[in-house]
Amino acid sequence: MNRVPEEELMDVQRNAQAYAGADFSEPNAKFLALFSDKFPAFHGQQILDLGCGPADITIQLARRYPQARVVGTDGAGAMLDIARKTILRHASLANRVDVRRWHIGREANPFGSNAFHAVVSNSLLHHMRDPLDLWRTIHACAAPGAAVLVMDLIRPQSRIEAEKIVETYAGKETEVLRADFLNSLLAAYRPVEIMEQLVSLNMGSLQTETVSDRHFIVFGSMS
Ligand SMILES: C[S@@+](CC[C@H](N)C(=O)[O-])C[C@H]1O[C@@H](n2cnc3c(N)ncnc32)[C@H](O)[C@@H]1O
Repeated sequence: MNRVPEEELMDVQRNAQAYAGADFSEPNAKFLALFSDKFPAFHGQQILDLGCGPADITIQLARRYPQARVVGTDGAGAMLDIARKTILRHASLANRVDVRRWHIGREANPFGSNAFHAVVSNSLLHHMRDPLDLWRTIHACAAPGAAVLVMDLIRPQSRIEAEKIVETYAGKETEVLRADFLNSLLAAYRPVEIMEQLVSLNMGSLQTETVSDRHFIVFGSMS
């Protein structure tokens, strides 16, 4: 099945609300567990979460790494409004968690080069108009030796298989969320495509691993 691109930003309020209200506790916990598993000695002070959406992972990273300041970025104002309200509810973390608007691929890097000891991203790659923009951004933002972890969906073999995944994992969610999930699966990349993207940018030292029936990760230390 060929890839079907979807809207880049989740800037429509009802889609952003549907996403923020859905239960992603399992994949988000998996993301956090994978980060500590792949980088058990991580003690960096600056973490960047690209395409942070409602900032659930951003906040959980700040909880898990009390020495770190965590910055989440997203191009969608609707998502950032939700993220800011959530951060306000976690007052004890508020001085270490920040979110800001950045439309990757359209706007210049607001952080300067090599500023972060970890650069992470969950479920952003399949949204990108040009996936290479994400890898270039990670390369630009990560300090030498920085921890990199990207997790995203894998495009299924067929639309029917994608619909089955939606039923299995989002059968009880709202119609808006189910439609967004299906579109995301159809827009996702396959591990072999990701490896080609990385090799084309000389980032082939990062590794890929399939971690569930619908997720893969790219991880490693930035050279
Ligand atoms: C599926 S959500 C994932 C949110 C969050 N990382 C999570 O795991 O819950 C993808 C997010 O990426 C954002 N996004 C998509 N393309 C982007 C781009 N080019 N620059 C910045 N953000 C982007 C969307 O607005 C959306 O909030």
